[in-house]
Amino acid sequence: MGGPHGSHISASILNADFASLGTEVERAADGGVDSIHLDVMDGHFVDNLTMGPVVVGAVRPRTGLPFHAHLMISNPLAYAERFAEAGSDLIVFHVEADDDPAAVIAEVERAGRRPGIALNPETDASAVLPWLERIDLLLVMTVHPGWGGQAFLDDVLPKMRALRDEIDRRGLDVPIGVDGGVNLETIGRAHAAGGEVMVVGSGLYSNDGDLTPTVAALRAAAHARDSDANAERT
Ligand code: DX5
Ligand code: ZN
Repeated sequence: MGGPHGSHISASILNADFASLGTEVERAADGGVDSIHLDVMDGHFVDNLTMGPVVVGAVRPRTGLPFHAHLMISNPLAYAERFAEAGSDLIVFHVEADDDPAAVIAEVERAGRRPGIALNPETDASAVLPWLERIDLLLVMTVHPGWGGQAFLDDVLPKMRALRDEIDRRGLDVPIGVDGGVNLETIGRAHAAGGEVMVVGSGLYSNDGDLTPTVAALRAAAHARDSDANAERT
């Protein structure tokens, strides 16, 4: 799932101009991002309400890029099909939600889409271990879900590294997504800890106009320490 240069940049539209979401989706796509991340909140799982399937469907025609629906909702089982029909390619639900992960995964697959699991900063890595063979993305939250523009929680990095090592130990091809507070200053640490699908909201949409330079800078910042890391390994 990595982008052309390793890191995959996924634009979270939560901090985009909601009065012009279609244009904002196109702006991210034209800027060279690899996917669009749609933050769905139900006002119950998190204390905020954002968008439903109707919004996903409204912006779907504006780009051919993959849509990652991040369901911060208590009952993903009831909505998986509707988000699939609205045009989501990857449907990420929270392991902390009310529904049984096996049932949600089966429902997403029945709808012909790919499942992902997200875990909150305070949730132990052990909670997602039973599902690693069944998912196409493991979304590691680096903020407490509910809002964009929060500070990156570095305390999550050891858990991210441990999950990357476990996925590698099992020989699985499951990318780790990093969600919350990812920007030019934090993306290098996220990449070094095993993050690959970098969700960027305010770090992207705080910029006006053409996003190409910002996306390029994010990719470069993601890999800035690769040479040091490789040198350490040799
Ligand atoms: C938080 C969302 C994240 C976040 C991304 O609940 O899941 O996608 O808003 O936005 P930034 O990059 O501004 O943290
Ligand atoms: Zn998200």
